[in-house]
Amino acid sequence: MLEIKGIRKSYGKIRALCDCSCRLGEGVYGLLGPNGSGKTTFMNILTDNIRQDGGEILFNGEKIKRENGRFRARIGYMPQSCELIPAFSCLDFLHYMAVLKGIDRKAASAQIDSLLGRFELDAVKNRKIASFSGGMKQRLMLIQAFLGEPEIVLLDEPTAGLDPKQRVLVKNFLAEQSFGKTILLATHIIGDIEHIANGVICLKKGETIFCGEPNALAEKARGAVWSCTVDGDALGELKARFRVIAINSEGGKTSCRLLSPVKPSETAVEVQPTLEDAYMLLYGDEHEADRV
Ligand SMILES: Nc1ncnc2c1ncn2[C@@H]1O[C@H](COP(=O)(O)OP(=O)(O)O)[C@@H](O)[C@H]1O
Ligand SMILES: [Mg+2]
Repeated sequence: MLEIKGIRKSYGKIRALCDCSCRLGEGVYGLLGPNGSGKTTFMNILTDNIRQDGGEILFNGEKIKRENGRFRARIGYMPQSCELIPAFSCLDFLHYMAVLKGIDRKAASAQIDSLLGRFELDAVKNRKIASFSGGMKQRLMLIQAFLGEPEIVLLDEPTAGLDPKQRVLVKNFLAEQSFGKTILLATHIIGDIEHIANGVICLKKGETIFCGEPNALAEKARGAVWSCTVDGDALGELKARFRVIAINSEGGKTSCRLLSPVKPSETAVEVQPTLEDAYMLLYGDEHEADRV
C-alpha cells in the first residue's frame, strides 16, 4: 500500500502540486488530468527525481527513506519523454537497463525474451534504436519499466504514439500484470484506463479532486448527462446554453449528448453516465492555455 499525503511542489511561482493525497493498493490506477495538472511532477516525486516541498509518502505504513535507495529499487518507471541511445540495438538497451537495475544476466535474458514477445518487438530486437518508430520506442520503454519485476510501476503517458492495436496490447498486458503490483498510469485519455483501472486519481491544477473506484467517478455525473434530439437551429441554441459533449447525425436526425444539472428540454432523456462524461464534468471548464 502506497499512501501519498498532502504532497506540495512549486517551481518558482508555479504551483505544480498543491494538495495531492491518495492511497494506492494492488492493481491498475489511472492518474487523470489535462496537460499541466501535475501528473509528471507527481511521478517525478514518487521516483525521487525531484523532491517535494511538503507532505509525505508511506509504503506499507512506513515513511519512505530516500537515502538508502531501497524504495527506488521497488519501482519500475517509464518517463513521459526521454533520450534513448540511438546507437544501441533494442537488445543492447534492455540488457544495459537490466545491469543498471542489478538483475543477473540469466534472469534478465529470460525476462527480456518474454517481454519482447509480448510487445511484438522480437523481430526487430537486433535493430538499432535509431531506426525505431515512435510506437516501437514507446513499447521498448514499457518493457524496461517491467524488467526486474518491480512492485510499483509508474508509467507516464505510456500509450502516446501507439496505434489502436498496440493500445489494446498494452492495456491487456497491464491488466494481466496487475496482480501483486501497483501500476500507476498517467494519461488524459479515458480509453487508456477504461475497463482495466481498479482506481482513479484525478488531478486538477495540482490538487487531487477525486480518488476512488472508476464506477464512483462515473457516478459523479449521474443526473447530469442528457440525450436530446434536435433539429435545425435548436442545436446552436443548446450549444450556447449547455456543454455539448457529442453530436450524432443519422437518417436526417441529429441528437446530442450534453451536460446539465437540470433537464435541458421537454424531450431530453437522462442517460447512464460514463467515465468520459465525468471527466468532462470535472475538467470541461479548463482551457489548456490556463495551465501551460
Ligand atoms: N521544471 C519545471 N519548471 C517550471 N515549471 C514546471 C516544470 N515542470 C512542470 N512545470 C509546471 O508545473 C505544472 C505541472 O506540470 P506537469 O507536472 O508536467 O503536468 P502534466 O504532466 O499533468 O502535464 C505546469 O504548469 C507546468 O508548466
Ligand atoms: Mg506530463
